[in-house]
Amino acid sequence: MSLSDDLIAPPPPSFTSLAIEASGLSKVFVSRAAMWSRERRTVALSDVSFNLKSSEILAVVGESGSGKTTLGRLIVGLETPDAGWIRKGPKPLVDTANRIFTPAAQRGIGMIFQDPNSSLNPRMTVSAIVGEGLQLAGVGARERRERIAAALDLVGLRREDMDRYPHQFSGGQRQRIGIARAIVVEPSILVADEAVSSLDVSVQMQVLNLILDIRDKLGLAVIFITHNIGVVEYLCDQVIVLSKGEVVERGPTAQVVGSPQHPYTKGLLSAVPRI
Ligand SMILES: Nc1ncnc2c1ncn2[C@@H]1O[C@H](COP(=O)(O)OP(=O)(O)OP(=O)(O)O)[C@@H](O)[C@H]1O
Ligand SMILES: [Mg+2]
Repeated sequence: MSLSDDLIAPPPPSFTSLAIEASGLSKVFVSRAAMWSRERRTVALSDVSFNLKSSEILAVVGESGSGKTTLGRLIVGLETPDAGWIRKGPKPLVDTANRIFTPAAQRGIGMIFQDPNSSLNPRMTVSAIVGEGLQLAGVGARERRERIAAALDLVGLRREDMDRYPHQFSGGQRQRIGIARAIVVEPSILVADEAVSSLDVSVQMQVLNLILDIRDKLGLAVIFITHNIGVVEYLCDQVIVLSKGEVVERGPTAQVVGSPQHPYTKGLLSAVPRI
């Protein structure tokens, strides 16, 4: 190989092939029960790092209160970390040391929320819900309608559903509306927060398969938050296990689920039925 070959060679794969990389993420919530009461500090996340390639699915598991949703909200930009950085490909999204904070609307990261019932405004039509992000981004009405229709098609809903309201759908269909809202902005990364936990077991599988299907079609990297380690086996390539905001175990799914090392992971595995 000549020197000139070297100069035009792409950067090392470890650099270009990562869809998202995060390091040292920490978040403390400070709250008060009342104005006169003492401050309460909750360490929701402490020094969390992970990385993910395109088309890979990372499971974030842990019991209630372990910091899973907080991590998801930091990634999409609904919350600011106290320390750490997040990079999407080569682009810094957040870097606390250099005071970089990219607003959520500019990140190109979609989020499916924990509870489709409370995350879908009952007074908005499906097209208004799914198209909100596009409208914020200044996409015109005609193009918006086409992209909403395409997103609904991808999640198995119909164009006619656009003018209906959330209460006119089943739980599984409502989660499909939530997924359409997450993907309509054509994200390269999807954060799914307990995307199937609130659904009937029979519908869970359909929605999981839909997420796999969308991952394949769009080449998305998916961060799949769940307390159900049974789902992880079916869906995910890698796992991080959170306990009290800290990563206590990480690795490929087969390794973490097949031979967990940490007592906390063993406890999670024994507590949950497998699918
Ligand atoms: N806005 C907030 N203000 C104060 N404390 C918060 C806030 N959001 C989260 N917390 C606290 O941070 C910790 C982590 O919460 P988080 O919602 O991230 O957990 P989780 O793993 O998603 O739990 P679950 O499985 O119940 O959804 C909890 O102790 C929670 O009470
Ligand atoms: Mg949560």
